[in-house]
Order: sequence, then structure tokens, then C-alpha cells
Amino acid sequence: MSLQAIRFTRSEPYQLRILDQLLLPYTEKYIEINTTVDAYNAIKKMQVRGAPAIAIVGAISVIVEVSHYLNGKFKDQSFYDLINIDNFKRQLIKRLNFLITSRPTAVNLSNAINELIGIINNSSVQSIDELFPIIFEFGTELYDNDFKNNFKLGENGKDWILNDLRNQGFNGDFSVLTICNTGSLATSGYGTALGVVRSLWNHSKSLIEDNNNNDGDDHDENQLPPNKRAKLDTIKFSRVYPLETRPYNQGARLTAYELVYEKIPSTLITDSMVTYLTSTLKNSSSPIKVCVVGADRIVKNGDTANKIGTYQLALICKQFGIKFLVVAPKTTIDLQTLNGDGIIVEQRPSIELQNVSGGIINNQTNQVIRDEETGFAINGKVGVAAPGIEVWNPSFDITPHDLIDGIVTEDGVIVKDSNGEFDLESLFK
Ligand code: MRU
Repeated sequence: MSLQAIRFTRSEPYQLRILDQLLLPYTEKYIEINTTVDAYNAIKKMQVRGAPAIAIVGAISVIVEVSHYLNGKFKDQSFYDLINIDNFKRQLIKRLNFLITSRPTAVNLSNAINELIGIINNSSVQSIDELFPIIFEFGTELYDNDFKNNFKLGENGKDWILNDLRNQGFNGDFSVLTICNTGSLATSGYGTALGVVRSLWNHSKSLIEDNNNNDGDDHDENQLPPNKRAKLDTIKFSRVYPLETRPYNQGARLTAYELVYEKIPSTLITDSMVTYLTSTLKNSSSPIKVCVVGADRIVKNGDTANKIGTYQLALICKQFGIKFLVVAPKTTIDLQTLNGDGIIVEQRPSIELQNVSGGIINNQTNQVIRDEETGFAINGKVGVAAPGIEVWNPSFDITPHDLIDGIVTEDGVIVKDSNGEFDLESLFK
């Protein structure tokens, strides 16, 4: 069973619960989202985060809110000062426009909610009962498609990486870099860039198993079917190095948690260790060959907004000849914005940089100290900055497209043409 950031009960009584990512990795606690305002607060506080996950939580919160309204359980019942269906639609759209403002950089949320607003506006329903199935279908489809597409992203990324290494004449083990958290916790499940790592690891495991079951026969590779031929590969993922990802530590808290949970060989590094690690491993038995990152918004020319630190990671990769891949579903693509200059970068509160938060660990037992009554870890906030210092805390940066080798989507991997340009429009034709 993989980690689930989002749990949704699809029948009466509809229920949406999210794993509170502020408490991870020390405490696994699900919280209920009953309204679009609950979703707004959870997204803004980053109890749920990651571009696909926040869009899904936003869209499903609408299902739950409207179902509660129909049952008379909506705590803000008077908000919908009802006269008729048009009035209801107007009020709902007002709440949806508010929801979009929770986090401005990730385009998945605004794409999804704006699409839903369009559907609500264009529907000719006569009652809320008739509107409900439309809202339900939209949210569940978004959720299910994200889940399906994540597996395709994983496979497409894995195949591209192995082929590329084969074409380079590379043989043997290789390592991978990644930043932030792009796994099950950031999506409906499996993940985007971390999904590629999962697929690479599954491929490695199958090679190891195959080796163990080797019958000793000398196979002629060309005589074998393609699936068997792949098994004769000697190119094998061996380890991933997730960056800690300051200031919010998605790498150390969340990606490391997923990697430990899934027993994928991994070693945590701080953001400032990449250059030294890469040069240290250069002539080792498992050099770093590829870096996979997610995206919050990929604009028309391929410039990509992602977690702060991604741009400098791409520059390091350029310096060392490491392939740099952006992995994201098509819902993260924004063709309306021409280049990175048009992307709004969210500023986060200074407290997230001035403090680190986590469980308090007992020095003697190395265990997290838990509240006696609730059993939950006591979440510590530890200051790491001089009080009074001014802080700049942008949540994302924008990697120029010329530093990106490929954009992995569910429909394939897009690479640059001979003029160095990505044709992302081709994905929507
Ligand atoms: O601030 P966060 O944690 O929401 O930032 C998340 C990222 O930058 C991810 O890389 C991106 O949303 C893709 S998640 C599949």
C-alpha cells in the first residue's frame, strides 16, 4: 500500500481527508476537509502541497461542500443565501475564485478550478441536485486521471533515461538527483519525478531478480523478444540523492519518508552538497547521470517554475553534463504564458526560513517525544536565524528552458528541436 496524501469517500456521506504534511515525518494524522474554505486554509498552510495534489484537493472539496449543503450539514449554510440555482452558482463561483488564490504559482489548481467554473457557468441545470453530479464527475475524473497518468510519466521517464544512457554508450550503475517532494504525497499517488525514480528502481529490481534466476545459458540478445532483451541491460539505477530542500525541507521530511517507506536506495544531502557530491562520484562505480524534478508551471517556451533551488541545480547539471529532466502531467502546462517572466512566484512567510520545524527527538532513545495523551509527536519549532534579521523567502524559481533536456509527460517526452525550442503545443493537438 503506497502512501496516500488524499483519501476520498466517493459515496454518501462524502468525505475528504488529507494527510497533514506539516506533521510528517513524525506524525501521520489525517484531517478532514469539509468545505472549499477548509481546502483554502490547508493549501495555504501547506498541510497539503505539490501542484497536482492541491488541484485535486481543491476540486474534491467542492464535491464535499455541495454534498453537505444538500444534506443540510454545511456549517456555513447561510452563506448560500438561496433564491434560485443561478444565485447558488454565483455564490459557489465566488468561493471557487477565493480558493484559487491560496497558492498562485502552481497552475494545476487555477487550471482545474477555472475549468470547473466554466462548466458550472455553461450548465443549464435547474437545481443543485442536478448540478451535483457534474461537480462530482469533474473532481473524480481529475483524481483518477492524475493517478493513471503518473504511471505513464514514470514509465516514459524511465525508458527515456535508459535509452539515452544506452545511446551515450554508458554501461553499469548510475545515480539520480532530485529536489523537493514529487511523490505520492504531492499527487494522487506514485508521483511525477519521484515516480520516475520508482519506475527506475522497479526496473533495477527486475534486473537483479533476473540475474539471480539466471539459467547460465548464453542468450543471443537479438533472438529474444523486446521485453526479455531489456532484461539483458547492464544499465541500472542504483541510488537517488534527494536534496533537503530548504527552507521547508520537503526533501528531508517528505521525500526521504517516502523513500524509506518504499525501501528505495537513497542518501539525503543538503542543497549545498550537490557540486561536491557530483564531482566525488564522477569516476565512481555509480556516477550521477540524471536529475529529475517536478514542476509547478511549465510555460509555452518550456521555462519551468519549480521549488526554489531547482534553477541552481540545473546550472550544476549543465556544468557536469548531467541530463536534466522536468517531469509533469499536461495539467501543469500553461500555454497562455509565453515565457518565465510571466510567472508569479509566491512569497512564503519569513518564519518558514527563520525556523525549522519537526518532532523533538529524545537524545537518549533517539525516539520522537510523544504527547502522552494523544500519542502525537510534539512538534518543535526551532529557531535557526538571528532574531530581527530581514528575510526573503520565494517558494519557487524559474529554470530557463535552455537548461532543460526533456519534458516528460504522460504522452511522451518532449525534447528541443534543432533551434533549441520546445514545441509544447504539439501535446494538445
Ligand atoms: O511548495 P511545494 O511543496 O508545493 O512545492 C512543490 C514543488 O515544487 C513540486 O516539485 C511540484 O509541485 C511538483 S509536485 C508533483
